[in-house]
Parts: sequence; C-alpha cells; structure tokens
Amino acid sequence: MLIHHVPVVAALLAATGVAALPKKTQQSMGKHRVTSIELGPRPYYLVDNMEEGWLKDRLDSSASRTRGGARLQFPEETVESIMAGTRMGAGIQECDVAFTKDRQFVCRHDQCDLHTTTNIVATELGAKCTKPFAPAANGTAASAKCCTSDLTLAEFKTLCGKMDGFNASATTPEAFLHGTPGWRTDLYATCGTVLAHKEFIALVDGLGLDFTPELKAPAVPMPFEGGDYTFEAYAQQLVDEYRGAGIDFARVYPQSFQFAAVQYWLRREPEFARQAVLLDESGDKGGLEAAVANLTLYKDAGVNIVAPPLPYLVTLDDKTGEIVPSSYAREAKRLGLKIITWSLERSGPIAAIHKAGQKGSPDYYYSTFFNATTRDGDIYQLVDVLARQVGVMGIFSDWSATVTYYANCMGFLS
Ligand SMILES: *[C@@H]1O[C@H](CO)[C@@H](O)[C@H](O)[C@H]1NC(C)=O
Ligand SMILES: *[C@@H]1O[C@H](CO)[C@@H](O)[C@H](O)[C@H]1NC(C)=O
Ligand SMILES: *[C@@H]1O[C@H](CO)[C@@H](O)[C@H](O)[C@H]1NC(C)=O
Ligand SMILES: *[C@@H]1O[C@H](CO)[C@@H](O)[C@H](O)[C@H]1NC(C)=O
Repeated sequence: MLIHHVPVVAALLAATGVAALPKKTQQSMGKHRVTSIELGPRPYYLVDNMEEGWLKDRLDSSASRTRGGARLQFPEETVESIMAGTRMGAGIQECDVAFTKDRQFVCRHDQCDLHTTTNIVATELGAKCTKPFAPAANGTAASAKCCTSDLTLAEFKTLCGKMDGFNASATTPEAFLHGTPGWRTDLYATCGTVLAHKEFIALVDGLGLDFTPELKAPAVPMPFEGGDYTFEAYAQQLVDEYRGAGIDFARVYPQSFQFAAVQYWLRREPEFARQAVLLDESGDKGGLEAAVANLTLYKDAGVNIVAPPLPYLVTLDDKTGEIVPSSYAREAKRLGLKIITWSLERSGPIAAIHKAGQKGSPDYYYSTFFNATTRDGDIYQLVDVLARQVGVMGIFSDWSATVTYYANCMGFLS
C-alpha cells in the first residue's frame, strides 16, 4: 500500500509563463532567484502524444518559441519544489498551513503526514510522534502517525522533506521511508528543505510571485491543548502572518476546505477574504447534485472563488463521448463564481488510469471522464476544455510546465 502526493504548485492561467515573469524576479533576489522560465521536455512529450487535430497543430506550432530545460519531481512543500515550480512558470505558489506544538505555521500537505512526507521516523524525533513507528508484524502493516503539532518549529526544521509514501511491509524505520511509485522519482529527494510559513512568504515574495496558503483542517481537537488556541485564532493567525510581512492582500488567495474558515475571514477580515478560495469536495460524500445545489449557499455567503476537483467540472457528452463542462461548472458560471481546480498531473500514466477506470476502479481525478482519456496527450484536451469552455481562472498542477506551455501558446498570458 502506497500513498503519495507530489509538489503542488498553482500554475494560474492568467499569471504564468515567460511573459508573466515579474521584473523583480529578473533582478538578483539573493540566493533564490530565477532568471528564465524553463519548461523542460514534458509539454513536448504530451503534444507529440496527442491525437491529430487542430489543438495538436496549434500547440505544436508554439514549440519552437518556448525554451527548453529539464525538470523532474521534487518533495512537496519544500524550497526545492517551489523553485522547480517557479522555473516552470507557476504564478502562484501554495503552502498548506499546519501548526506546530508552539503554534508556529509550517508548510505541510496535512497536519499529520510527517511520517510519509519526511524522514521523521528514522530520526530521534520519531519518539515524539502521536503514534511512533510500529513495524509490520504478523500480517499487520507497518504504521506511524506524526503530526506537526507533535513538534516545535525548531524540531520540525531539522527534518528532511521526501516524496510522499511509505513501505507497509517495513520492519525497520529506515525501510518505512521507501514508497515512491515508479513513475515518480527519488532523484531529488535527498533532503528537501522544509519551510515555516513565514519563510515561504519571504521566499515567494522574493521571487515576485503570489501566494495561495491553505488553512488545513486541524487534526487535533480545538482549542489546541485545551488553551486559548481556538479555530478562530488559528484562522486569524494566517491573516496576521501576511499582514505582518507587509504583503498586499491582492497577492494572496487564501484557501480552505473548511467553510467555517472562509466564513470567519469574510466576517472579520473582508479584504483578506475577497480572493478566498473555498475548496469544495462536498460532492464526494453528498453526490455531485448536492454540491451543485450548495453553490448558491456559498455565493450568498460572499464567496467569490470555488475550487472543486477536476472530476466535478467536466463530464462526457452522451452522444460524442467528448469531455464537456459539467452541471457544476455551468452552475458556478451562472452564479458568477470564479473557478480554480485541482490537481492536474497528480495521477500516473493515463493509459493505466483509463484501464483501471474501465475495470471499475477509476482514479479519483479522472473518475468522471476516464473513458475519454486513453493516452498522456489527452491531458491537453482536458486543459483545453477547462480553460476555454469551463473558463477556470487557474489550475493547481503538480507539473506546472504543462499548464504554462498551454497558457503561453493559447494566449492566456496577456
Ligand atoms: C507475532 O506473533 C508471534 C506468535 O504468535 C508473537 O510471538 C509475536 O509477539 C507477534 N509479534 C507482534 C509484533 O505482535
Ligand atoms: C519494505 O520493507 C521490507 C521489510 O523491511 C523490505 O524487505 C523491502 O525491501 C522494503 N521495500 C522497499 C521498497 O524499500
Ligand atoms: C453544503 O455546505 C455545508 C457547509 O459547508 C455543508 O455542511 C453541507 O454538508 C453541504 N451539503 C452538501 C450536500 O454537500
Ligand atoms: C466507459 O466505456 C465503457 C465501454 O467502453 C462503458 O461500458 C462504460 O459505461 C463507460 N463508463 C463511463 C463512466 O462513461
């Protein structure tokens, strides 16, 4: 059993690419700077892999205008993944925000994923985990549960970021660290530099890019440790960190799956909430029609941007079998809600996804349209429908160059 995520960087259609590389970034910004955008080989691979047609011709014709470079895959929420995403033209960078024992903010995909995204179980800090490493034995999988709230910020900073995954048959903590699927790589997972949220702000500000912090659902009862650290105090702290750093809120797209967090910002920090992004996975449990019905509630509450996963936004046309906007996409548009979606290129090679879907176990991100995606190049059919028919303002992508290339080519970078 393996679980995995890769670096999430938001490549917003309106804010990516060579043309959008901010002037500030082109000057020396100290240690972390990017002077040119490099898309690497993957977009060309995808275009070559497309079915013949006008979209392929159009994307092909841009090939000579874009500079090459090489990017592979990096441990998520680290300095290295942010730099890789920046080099591939991402305009907005994500930090998933979770708190430490001393109530400092750090970037982690989940409050309790340190056992799969860092080397913690193989360090002395493993003893501080909510559930320390337990080896596989007698048919029971190896396990551990390690949360940012188990550690102080100083302790967290000693960890190395790695590719998300674990080895369920591990009998030693070292073996537990291995679980990266074959289509990812450990080549750059030598010791990813983990980040405090304040460091993330300084890094991304220095690069001249925008921010999309996600306030994660607390994985411990709030108030934390029975004190004064309530959910509201947690939500306020996010606002305070941007205000404290002197960041213009126009550069911040705060997100949360927690409607309560967005409601709090709308009520107490309306300027911060103007670009708040309500992440919506309510259709997973309630069904897509219920999620569609709920859009009115969000609109009436003052939400301007919703962010559902890819499968909510598209469906297959009954007659042609082609990818088309879903009822969710049409209703969000009708209400005037802006849409961001997640996450492109989080899944493995498409042929395997197509096959798994036909066998009745579809990949989450392709669950509503796997029949129309049979090869890797079909990713651009999906991106094209999202950009031109659904009208998304951005796409969270685990490989930003794919979206940057499309946006450059199709003129989304004015
Ligand atoms: C596994 O089973 C054996 C035999 O029943 C027992 O002696 C041993 O303690 C078990 N190990 C663990 C880790 O539960
Ligand atoms: C997983 O753990 C088992 C037991 O420690 C080990 O034999 C195996 O090589 C490990 N797999 C990987 C990919 O490290
Ligand atoms: C609608 O939104 C509310 C607030 O987030 C949530 O509690 C409820 O579960 C949602 N309903 C459905 C059917 O998704
Ligand atoms: C996918 O296509 C198969 C036939 O190839 C069909 O039986 C199935 O209903 C389709 N599934 C979806 C979700 O469209």
